[in-house]
Amino acid sequence: MKKLTVVLLALLVAGSAFAGPKADGGSGGGGGKTLIGIAMPETHVQRWVKDGASLKAEAIKRGYDAADQYGNADQAQQNQQIQSFLTQGAKALVVGCINDGVGSVIAEANKDKVVVVAYDRIIPNSADYDYFITFNNYKVGVLQATSIVDGLNLNAATTAAPKQITLFAGSPTDGNAFFFFDGAMSVLNPFIDKGVLKVVGPYPKTSADRANFQRIATENWQAPIAKTRMENLLNADARNVTLDAILAPNDTLARAILEACKADAKYRTKLPVISGQDAEFDSAMSIKNGEQYSTIFKDTAKLAEAAILLLDQVLKGQTVNIPGAVLASGDLAKIGDTGKKTVKTYLLDPILVTKANLNVPVDAGFYDDPAQVAQLKQ
Ligand code: BGC
Repeated sequence: MKKLTVVLLALLVAGSAFAGPKADGGSGGGGGKTLIGIAMPETHVQRWVKDGASLKAEAIKRGYDAADQYGNADQAQQNQQIQSFLTQGAKALVVGCINDGVGSVIAEANKDKVVVVAYDRIIPNSADYDYFITFNNYKVGVLQATSIVDGLNLNAATTAAPKQITLFAGSPTDGNAFFFFDGAMSVLNPFIDKGVLKVVGPYPKTSADRANFQRIATENWQAPIAKTRMENLLNADARNVTLDAILAPNDTLARAILEACKADAKYRTKLPVISGQDAEFDSAMSIKNGEQYSTIFKDTAKLAEAAILLLDQVLKGQTVNIPGAVLASGDLAKIGDTGKKTVKTYLLDPILVTKANLNVPVDAGFYDDPAQVAQLKQ
């Protein structure tokens, strides 16, 4: 009898020590912390490495255990990573997905009552989660196009000497790409309609023209695809004109497109005005050197902080309140439409950066390598 009590006691003690993640926000130390799984889509676009690191640091700062994985733009691979977070007992997931193939693991997470936050990119065609945190992606596009309007001085352009632009969009598997493009075209279309801006190559007036959108889209945001498309354009539609501007959806693609332009004698002395996004260091340097014209600074450290705060509040059953983010409503609520339901969507504000205000991301501490900061400040 006595022996049995001892055994039972031993089992109880062992049980509490290895009880797995706690559902209380994990403020307690030891092995009982709540695990947050961080699934980022890819590393070929620089920002995600930083996003993953920031998310992990924020989660740990709030008393959680955290693990980060990168999907290499391959949804099957990311699904395995998410599956493994679930097997490890994760109570929450932060997911920057690759495409709607993620739906099956999100459904599983939902069944296990795991809290999912769609991070930066919507999880499309799913009704199995409730929260999305991102930037105002429509505004990203508006700002990209605004920089082109300024860079070309389009307000002074005439129909006698119209400016020439070609259009690129992001991955058609990424919901953000549509908002970036539609935001940009809301600014450019009036100039095109007036005849002071001419589109070289395919011209979807909005992303709703899926056939033409597909022709300018860049599968999985792969730089070599954009570069090849630019090379082809230069040898075909753009052969007999000089391009004044290029709408590029992010920095990785903008630099690839510029590489193609630089190899063409026509652009040796003057590159087209080209937009970007992400304030990547290489693009910041390119802007400083007068090559890329603009980028969009999205402070991903703030996005990561906000995402973990959101999860923390949900896990603790508190009312969600994210300082610095607005809850999308009205027209912006569309950003949170998965196709199956509209999730609660929190939006942070993007900032346009050109050579004139390159100090903004630097001063915000966005580049944490002192050598990079020094180069940008030189
Ligand atoms: C993000 C961009 C990024 C792109 C490619 C989008 O979903 O919002 O910041 O450049 O994916 O990774």
